[in-house]
Amino acid sequence: MNIAVAGTGYVGLVTGVCLAECGHQVTCIDIDENKIARLNLGVSPIYEQGLEELLMKNLKRGNLNFTTNYQKAYQSAEVIFIGVGTPEKEDGSASLDFLYSVCNQIASCIVKDCLVVIKSTVPIGTNDKIERYFKETVEECIRVEVASNPEFLAQGSAVNDTLHASRIVIGVESEWAESKLRSIYEGFHLPMVVTSRRNAEMIKYASNDFLALKISYMNEIANFCEIIEANIDDVAFGMSLDPRIGPRFLNAGIGYGGSCFPKDTKALYSLGNEYGYELKTIKAAIEINERQKLKIYRELKMRFDTLQGMKIAVLGLTFKPGTDDIREAPSLINIKRLLEDGAILTAYDPVGIHNFERLITSKNLNYKKNLNDTLKGAQVAIIFTEWSEIKELTPHDFKGYMETPIVYDGRNCFKNEAFKGTGVEYHSIGRMSIK
Ligand code: UDX
Repeated sequence: MNIAVAGTGYVGLVTGVCLAECGHQVTCIDIDENKIARLNLGVSPIYEQGLEELLMKNLKRGNLNFTTNYQKAYQSAEVIFIGVGTPEKEDGSASLDFLYSVCNQIASCIVKDCLVVIKSTVPIGTNDKIERYFKETVEECIRVEVASNPEFLAQGSAVNDTLHASRIVIGVESEWAESKLRSIYEGFHLPMVVTSRRNAEMIKYASNDFLALKISYMNEIANFCEIIEANIDDVAFGMSLDPRIGPRFLNAGIGYGGSCFPKDTKALYSLGNEYGYELKTIKAAIEINERQKLKIYRELKMRFDTLQGMKIAVLGLTFKPGTDDIREAPSLINIKRLLEDGAILTAYDPVGIHNFERLITSKNLNYKKNLNDTLKGAQVAIIFTEWSEIKELTPHDFKGYMETPIVYDGRNCFKNEAFKGTGVEYHSIGRMSIK
């Protein structure tokens, strides 16, 4: 099928590449000419496992191309996917500016019937509104329908999550739209949930916010474990064997970040308030996460009289491993606070430094090329991301390179036992400290 995809961010690009991989003829559109030129050469703007290989493969076999010429792409497409961002506004609600600007372009140029599929995460009722907008702006003889097809891909495993998704959710209001989407996804051979547009929109928020809540719940239990001298690893394992709970997303840590959970929790909470219904569990997930992100910072403030001039090594900057994305990463707020308090920081991340540098630069923040240089001479080390090379560090490394081997592990990268009797002071989340 001839498909156009608007937006070449995480969602748009991965969707376009995977649809091409499944045999469709795909044109991806973006306004950034430089990005489009590089994509046509097979260079991905994001670091994502397996993406560049599939990008190159499908460019070569001629069923994928990138353009800034939206008119041509929208005019020839049978189905137009929209995967542009819906960033958070100041009041927490989702901004639909990018989405409406794409719809404007579509409405201004289409010449034949087409199905517009919204992949972006949007407030419930948006698909209905967009369809009304098309009905009002496009000539009556052209049939434009809107369908919701939310995305559940996680960064770092986006290609795999798309090609082997747990489910494909399709929100449609007509058999025409359903049959088009069914035939697009036929080749994926995945379980399909076909429902109304509003249900589909809600499934996306409810899923993401449930996962965020699961993490905040575990973080709160972990904090309490520290107080009552229990161990969150054992507690989580004991919980995980209950199939109603399951083993995933039970990892306590320094809080969730990224482009989805923080934004989607705030958007649903704000939507609830708009309708006069306060979603209290979502509010709790947000508040616990905000508090959790500064847990280690608060502990440092209690442990030391001052952080002025203290040499601190920061290990990991991205919001999780496997991505160079630092959006809402817990490292951001912590590094800002530590710099304000006069600490002198060295920082390392295998892929995230470039993005981080664009947001924070300071004479007291020195980016390093490897972990050993980062740890050298430090009085405290803080771990924000569980990269595998960080997990491979040994107590010997901390002891050997640091001036005083005091480690605050925000991602529980190590077992407590590994540090017993090593002379390294080890603090983690939801477990007793080793001194
Ligand atoms: C998430 C959803 O998983 C995905 O389905 C949705 O489409 C987009 O949002 P992503 O933001 O890429 O994906 O990352 P994810 O792996 O879900 O992790 C999000 C945050 O939660 C990270 O900061 C991670 O460190 C944290 N996390 C995750 C925990 O703190 N504990 C866990 O057990 C799992």
